[in-house]
This record gives sequence, structure tokens and C-alpha cells, in this order.
Amino acid sequence: MTTYLSGIQPSGRPHLGNYFGAIREHVRLQDRGGECFYFIADYHALTTSRDPARLREAVRDVALTYLALGLDPGRVALFRQSDVKEVTEIAWLLASVTGIGLLERAHSYKDKLARGIKPNVGLFTYPVLMAADILAYDTDYVPVGRDQVQHVEMAQDMAQSFNALFGEVFRRPEALMPAETLAKVPGVDGEKMSKSYGNDIWIFESGKALQAAIGRIKTDSRPPEEPKDPDGVLLFRFLELFLEPAELAGWRERARAGGAGAPGYGHMKKRLVEAVEEHFAPARARREALLADPSGVDRVLERGAKKARERAVAVAGRALEACGLR
Ligand code: TRP
Repeated sequence: MTTYLSGIQPSGRPHLGNYFGAIREHVRLQDRGGECFYFIADYHALTTSRDPARLREAVRDVALTYLALGLDPGRVALFRQSDVKEVTEIAWLLASVTGIGLLERAHSYKDKLARGIKPNVGLFTYPVLMAADILAYDTDYVPVGRDQVQHVEMAQDMAQSFNALFGEVFRRPEALMPAETLAKVPGVDGEKMSKSYGNDIWIFESGKALQAAIGRIKTDSRPPEEPKDPDGVLLFRFLELFLEPAELAGWRERARAGGAGAPGYGHMKKRLVEAVEEHFAPARARREALLADPSGVDRVLERGAKKARERAVAVAGRALEACGLR
């Protein structure tokens, strides 16, 4: 059976970019008939987190978000990375066969250095832990964003180094990238949506707060009646995500034609608020129900960890034996 595995950073309230770029794809994968292992990357988060309460909260928020958005814990193992200790053990085995040069070439590490971040050892060895995550479950495919592909390639390299030295222990994983169109959700300022740019919209925002968030989407001072190329209007990039094609085409046509029938930005924002509310209404209701029963989420994470651990114990056993620790 094909195994899909991905790690999710607990970086606070997940936004629309996370949804269209990753979460929705993760949830869809459960229908492919393979086995899915999704974990919340709390060990990785610790390379930057210094606030225990916030980290705990963020971890729960990931679980709630995925469950609310339709992840089926009966078919998918959803768990905390740190519940599978074998991962850190495998990371040590991989670290011992990995050249420092490989890690020094990591883009995300180099970017952080360039931004003046003083790296801790955990940040430097981030790709080793990530490789262990991937290899610990005999993973075939790793659904990730473009920015993580190099890390998956590094996991391939580490698996190969280990296997070359000690025999066929680790399965070779492949990155599974989202389609071109998926990853590109703009923020309210038109740049890529990102928590760190402060231009994001929380998936479950609603009511006044949603109106305010959508109110921040950048527009210009052109009057409604002025004909516009819809592709040059940021609001359309949001409407595209939520409206049915026929309705979207109507809005685009009226904006292009201009004149008395053309929509103003305020009108478009109002429609967008409605569409977002409606799109996430069932998920919001599920989230409320999950919030009302916190132990339910705990049980899901425990069950996921148990299943994940079974795999990881077997793989770690193979690896320990191969290199002579057992
Ligand atoms: N590095 C990934 C990110 O920032 C999270 C992650 C950790 C991950 N371990 C993983 C993703 C293993 C895929 C597989 O998004």
C-alpha cells in the first residue's frame, strides 16, 4: 500500500494560503486508497518557539483545523511528531552518515542566515530530523510545498548514504508537489499570503472580523464604472477561490465592461465575505463541536501516535540492527 506522509508546522492560526496550498490537498489524499500519516511538527517548532503555552495551543489548533476541514481520523493517522521518539533516534543515525556540506547547502537555512537569524544547532540539523520523519514510516510520497522539495531531496540523499553503508533499510521517498495553481494565494497586500508578512486571513474568520480582514484587501481609487482588466484586480484572485465558474465569469465580465452595471470594490468585497462564510460554514460548525469536547482531539492524536509508532518502531529496529547498535 502506498504511504503518504507530511508534517505540518504548528505556526498559529492557519490561513487561507495554508488551506488552498496544503490542507485541502492533504485532506483529499485520504481518498486515494493509500495510507496517510500526518503529524504536527512540534519538535521542529521548538527550533524557534520560546513560548510553551503558545506552542501547546498552536499544536491543538492544527489538529482542530484538520479535523474540522474533513480529515478522517479513521483513515488517517494524525499525531504529534514528538509522540514518536523513534524519530529522534533515526535522526541520530542519519546525522552520523550525513556530511555537514549537505546541510550547509539547504536553501531555507541559507535564507535564514541571510536574514540575520543566529542559528541554533536544531535549526541547522532541521533537514536531518525531517529526513527521519519521512524515512521512519517507509514513506512513498511526501506532499509538500515547493519550498520543501529540497528537504525531501536531502532525505533521499540521507537514505541513500545509509543504505549504501549498511544495506537496504530505508525506502526512497518522492516529493508530491501541489499543482501550479494551488500554492498561490495572495495576501491582502497582493504578496504571497504569509503569517510572517501579517497579510493573512484566518480560515475560520467570520462575521465582523471577516469583514475587517477582507476590507484590508488592497484596491485602488478607480471608480466602478471605469472598465478594468479583472486579472489586474487583486480581489478577483480571492473571488476565484470561492465562486463557481459561472458566477465568477459574470463578475469578471461586468468589471471588464465597466459602465453603470459594473461592480465597485465594496460590492465585490461584500460578495467575497458571503462566499467565505458559506464555504467554511460546515467546517466552522465542526470546529465548534470539537472545541466543546477537547478530550476527543486528544483521543485522535493518541490513536494516530499509536499507529505511527508501530511503523516507526519496525523501521528503527531495522536501522539499529543494520548499523550494529543491536
Ligand atoms: N518542514 C516542513 C514545513 O516547514 C514541515 C515538516 C517537518 C515536514 N517534517 C516534515 C514536511 C516531513 C514533510 C515531511 O512545512
